[in-house]
Amino acid sequence: MIEASVMTAAKPHLPDAQTVTSVTHWTDKLFSFRVTRPRTLRFRSGEFVMIGLMGENDRPLLRAYSIASPSWDDELEFYSIKVPDGPLTSRLQHIGVGDEIILRPKPVGTLVHDALLPGKRLWFLATGTGIAPFASLMREPDTYEKYDQVIMMHTCREVAELEYGRQLVDALTDDPLIGQMAAGKLIYYPTTTREASPLMGRITDNLTSGKVFADLGLPTMDPAFDRAMVCGSLAFNVDVKAVLEGFGLREGANSEPLEYVVEKAFVGDGI
Ligand code: FAD
Ligand code: A2P
Repeated sequence: MIEASVMTAAKPHLPDAQTVTSVTHWTDKLFSFRVTRPRTLRFRSGEFVMIGLMGENDRPLLRAYSIASPSWDDELEFYSIKVPDGPLTSRLQHIGVGDEIILRPKPVGTLVHDALLPGKRLWFLATGTGIAPFASLMREPDTYEKYDQVIMMHTCREVAELEYGRQLVDALTDDPLIGQMAAGKLIYYPTTTREASPLMGRITDNLTSGKVFADLGLPTMDPAFDRAMVCGSLAFNVDVKAVLEGFGLREGANSEPLEYVVEKAFVGDGI
């Protein structure tokens, strides 16, 4: 009965393997998925880990990914780009329920509450997949315990690219626990830049022109009250940092909490 035992043999486990529990494709360039959570993994909402698949020569092919789920969730969620010729995502985009991915359980990152001084308003500023760490932080009770108002500014080229964030905000508003904490505090400000939608424009432009403050009836950013977390392309991060510094906010870190923190959403070509 060798044949039978071969057929029923369990799939060999990858090192640090976690099993995919769901996959959602949002556009031809974006998908999200959930995996089992290692029992020993502790992380702070907003941090990232290395995940991947086994590459050629049986060597793990790993990339940095923000954990999009909050620290209390039983599973881990990720929100991913699909790069057609990307070494990892050209394959990762085809994962299905029951497949295994590699997850190195060593969370790190600067987009954490500990890296900011206490404040009144917290601004999440993201482009593209840069919303992932804020998908975690928007579902984190601490966020609403620490701040009176939380403003999620998310900008993409097209409307369909906002859908993951939009559905997440809708779902958390309906959540019996987080919904109650976020009620009246969470303000969602999604904009597009290359397709018409109710709110438009780059985050940098909407901050410098004062449009977002006027639209939301909020005062201009003030380092005494406002805190910000930034996650986008390198070009976005550089430009938005200059805007925040213009308002008098200073960049903080885990070791020295100040008024804003930044993380790259990805490492661009040639950088
Ligand atoms: P790569 O060789 O890594 O990238 C190829 C090219 O694709 C890059 O040069 C860049 O131009 C482009 N690219 C890569 N990632 C993105 C992206 N997210 N958005 C737009 N263009 C991109 N990616 C995610 O999709 N979700 C995350 O939550 C996430 N978190 C990250 C956190 C950190 C701290 C860093 C440094 C990167 C993060 N990334 C995230 C990017 C991720 O590590 C990989 O680059 C991405 O998964 C593509 O891998 P790849 O091997 O297919 O292509
Ligand atoms: P735009 O369409 O005006 O370039 P990308 O897909 O290139 O990463 O861009 C994602 C979103 O971020 C787009 O809406 C884009 O606007 C915006 N963006 C890109 N670069 C910057 C920047 N340097 N400052 C502000 N917004 C930016």
